[in-house]
Amino acid sequence: MCGIVGYIGKKDASPVLISGLSKLEYRGYDSAGVAIFNGDKLEIVKRKGRLKNLSDALDAEPVHGNAGIGHTRWATHGEPSDVNSHPHSNADGSICVVHNGIIENYIKLREFLISKGYKFVSETDTEVIPHLLDFFYEGDLLEAVRKVLGEIRGSYAFGIITSKEPDKLIAVRKDSPLIVGLGEGENFIASDIPAVLNYTRDVYLLNDNEIAVLTKDDIKLYTLDGKEIKKEVYHVTWDAEAAEKGGYEHFMMKEIHEQPKVIRDTMASRVMLGEPITLDKIKLTKEEIAGINKIYIVACGTAYHAGLVGKYAIEKLARIPVEIDIASEYRYRDPIIDKNTLVIVVSQSGETADTLAALRESKARGCRVIAVTNVVGSSVSREASDVLYTLAGPEIAVASTKAYITQLVAMYIIALFFAENKGTVSKEEIEKIKTEMLNLPDKAEKVLELKEEVKRHAGEIYKEEDMFFLGRGLDYAVAMEGSLKLKEISYIHSEAYAAGELKHGPIALIEEGTIMITLATQDYLFEKMVSNIKEVKARHAHVIALAFEGNEDIEKTVDSAVFLPRTIDLLAPVLSVIPLQLLSYYISVMKGCDVDKPRNLAKSVTVE
Ligand code: AGP
Repeated sequence: MCGIVGYIGKKDASPVLISGLSKLEYRGYDSAGVAIFNGDKLEIVKRKGRLKNLSDALDAEPVHGNAGIGHTRWATHGEPSDVNSHPHSNADGSICVVHNGIIENYIKLREFLISKGYKFVSETDTEVIPHLLDFFYEGDLLEAVRKVLGEIRGSYAFGIITSKEPDKLIAVRKDSPLIVGLGEGENFIASDIPAVLNYTRDVYLLNDNEIAVLTKDDIKLYTLDGKEIKKEVYHVTWDAEAAEKGGYEHFMMKEIHEQPKVIRDTMASRVMLGEPITLDKIKLTKEEIAGINKIYIVACGTAYHAGLVGKYAIEKLARIPVEIDIASEYRYRDPIIDKNTLVIVVSQSGETADTLAALRESKARGCRVIAVTNVVGSSVSREASDVLYTLAGPEIAVASTKAYITQLVAMYIIALFFAENKGTVSKEEIEKIKTEMLNLPDKAEKVLELKEEVKRHAGEIYKEEDMFFLGRGLDYAVAMEGSLKLKEISYIHSEAYAAGELKHGPIALIEEGTIMITLATQDYLFEKMVSNIKEVKARHAHVIALAFEGNEDIEKTVDSAVFLPRTIDLLAPVLSVIPLQLLSYYISVMKGCDVDKPRNLAKSVTVE
């Protein structure tokens, strides 16, 4: 996710901005830039790659001035490049903007601005903002900002500066973090507190739709309709390292908590009530869709588990047969694919060697390949025929959580896209599914409120050496992900089984007290699942169940149960995986394991 800093004061802005950006590096980025008012005009310097590239450029050709904005970009719209880096400006360079978030209606705004004669140089959604500001500017930057905010949809934090009012720096946020740092004769803005801790510990924590107007000696805060607001100053007492993790002890926990937001981001501009599903720039005509006789989903690890849900969703909604394979198997097993096979590769990093090889093999055999990936500019995104990005932002913990949940959302979006285009599901049913999808962020928030309950369960079982995860249908796919999470970060051996398969062998392993984590979210399989649970209870297993609210009766059969807010069966994985992530997390912490960097694992597996 991008990082924003801004400075206005008496110091040389350039080193302050670079120091602030360096404290935001943990957020992940692929390019960086600054715009500094040099006393005459705004000078922009931006570079693809590490922050060092930018600071080297500024060392070689210094820019001096006492006000500026800076940015580290995590690409979402347009590949990482100098030109797509922020700040972006209007044509004469008099208005500069840095942005974190996504402007959902940027395509329409871009078309409007082009019709008014504006020229675009980048592929970014952000570039509409300086041009729109230019369009509305009549001598008052704050007024222009308010007008722009009335036109845009999406999530954003902005830092804005203009050479026409160089004593001013404006910041605003909605659904993206932004703080204002209070100094003596100087003030700051930043995406996160560590960026200002070298200079001040007093900050305003901006809320959504609050606008801050900074001068070197003053900060005024306004609502969108121009009313001035008073806010309490928050005095920071904790250290920078804790701040990078957003106050959480580990990145994994921070990322688990980001899930409601990333679910929302991944649906933004793709899932809208009353409008067709869009797959961004992916163009598939009705004829091309009709020509697809098989879909292959190929991935590794957690991404493969998301693919299992994708197979289920696509087959159920779009009635296209879907095969799914682990990339390291697929590439060597001479798969039956041709130009009528659509291959979907799923990869958080976009750099997994086996997934990349599977992609190449598929293309070589004439298949169209859609990549579902989280990293813009990654190898997979560059080599695939088309890309659908999961907008999870950088995932730092090795164990994937928020990327997985966005992969699930991407799978549903793809399934709905095909269903809509093939007419395999009624319009009413599609709208119903979309409505449920749009409710998922709020419901995910509610699931996070169960964390103390999950922690209690973790406390009861963290000393175990073996566990089972059971489920049927989509619950089985989530059981596999829950089991992988537990193995990865707590080093406890666990197995995931399709509950109906248990009696064909593994039930022999069950003895008094064996821990069974059972998922029972699928209404149409509920009775069957309860029967399977009874089978293991009869062997004296210790059973913890996950079920929807309303199914409290299951408590009569199990030792304890966690109840999730209800959604439709199809979407249950998005909610049911969260308690499993939390369970693994707490067990890992209780065992004293290295949660974010588990032994023997790498975030991105770039070797075979
Ligand atoms: C997830 O927790 C894992 N660390 C791992 O299974 C991962 O999902 C797998 O290596 C695939 O990575 P990718 O999504 O970056 O391709």
